[in-house]
Amino acid sequence: MSLKVSFDYVKKDHMVSFEENKERVSSIDKMINERTGEGHEFLGWVDYPVNYDKEEFERIIKKAEEFRNKYDVLVVCGIGGSYLGARAAIDACNGVMPKRGRMQVLYLGNTLDPNYSHEILEYIKDRNFCVCVISKSGTTTETSVSFRILKEMLEDKYGKEGARDAIVAVTDKEKGALKSLANTEGYETYVLPDDIGGRFSVMTPVGLFPIACAGIDIRAFMKGLQDAREEYSSPDIYKNQAYQYALQRNNLYEKLNYHVEMIASYEMRLKTINEWWKQLFDESEGKLNKAVLTTSATFTTDLHSLGQFIQEGSKILYETIIYVDNPSYDVTVPFDRDDLDGLNYLAGKNLSYINRKAYEGTLKAHSETGNIPNICINLDKIDAYNIAYLFYFFMKACAMSAYLLGVNPFNQPGVEVYKKNMFHLLGKKGY
Ligand code: PA5
Repeated sequence: MSLKVSFDYVKKDHMVSFEENKERVSSIDKMINERTGEGHEFLGWVDYPVNYDKEEFERIIKKAEEFRNKYDVLVVCGIGGSYLGARAAIDACNGVMPKRGRMQVLYLGNTLDPNYSHEILEYIKDRNFCVCVISKSGTTTETSVSFRILKEMLEDKYGKEGARDAIVAVTDKEKGALKSLANTEGYETYVLPDDIGGRFSVMTPVGLFPIACAGIDIRAFMKGLQDAREEYSSPDIYKNQAYQYALQRNNLYEKLNYHVEMIASYEMRLKTINEWWKQLFDESEGKLNKAVLTTSATFTTDLHSLGQFIQEGSKILYETIIYVDNPSYDVTVPFDRDDLDGLNYLAGKNLSYINRKAYEGTLKAHSETGNIPNICINLDKIDAYNIAYLFYFFMKACAMSAYLLGVNPFNQPGVEVYKKNMFHLLGKKGY
């Protein structure tokens, strides 16, 4: 197991009883496995790590290699579940700075912000770039508008044929405007299966293709998903840590009135995992006027801003801390003869050691002094295998958590409201 959940920093009176809830949890697990709950038609992700299309997987590896050899920049064009998982995995595995020799991955179609869009377009216009457009529906405004611009740019730059080679599309097997466009233009396409929604799709070509282009080993990624699937397949609350986490967060919300969950890690490169996680839980659970609101932080940075509120502000939140036990790199504090800054007591110590002490000190401060429940998730290290494992852990936990709350985890009816108003204001036919 590469991931461990602990409740050592959740006080006894905040802790849920596994014994009292074991039947409830195992009956929801049965509902998930037998596909009998609300939204069951979107449970394809549960077994996707073993059922995935092996031929398509190999095609992805080949095409990504071709892209890496031919282009310097990949623009991923998608929004919500159609880009957050890929970005989270790429940022986590490749870090925050561009890496020499690795294809740079940029994102468009995730906003209507003209300034950001202009900056990206200006940056890529003189570079050798290619595009991966991702949309399950094929009709999302942000993605479609951005792709129209990118397509025109590529056709001007490389000609019609060249543009065709520089574009791949990930979309539905047969439906939607993007699918027909891709067929007409002859783009390489990969399938986002019908039974998997956007926020559960990082394990499909939606995540796999951009991740592979970023030079990350998607075979290891798939293995992480497979092992996690195995690990979190038990209906037994005493054995299944994904279910323990789900049950505990449900208890904090429903029984103890904690309405906000803050996810935090001590790694800058996990910032986008926070964004992916927020979408996963808020879009899955925020229905019927209920659910925990998710928020996020990166420590120690945010201890110097949000830290005051967490420690002494209103008691509305609990924390879920992801701590990576073994960083990929380390940095040592040097000895200084004059010691004018008084830091020689740390000379020779690594930042990983200091970061860990900050983590331990903060856990005590927040949970003991601040009375904030802290759930800890320890991850061995950050790599393709472990990040995939973490993704699967959260997805399984999310399905359980939403069913415990009594909502359908797999729809998002609320998201349509703004779209309808926007289409009406834009004068789209039928609105
Ligand atoms: O998780 C989801 O379902 C959403 O975030 C969608 O992924 C997002 O709205 C983009 O939709 P589409 O892939 O159809 O363009």
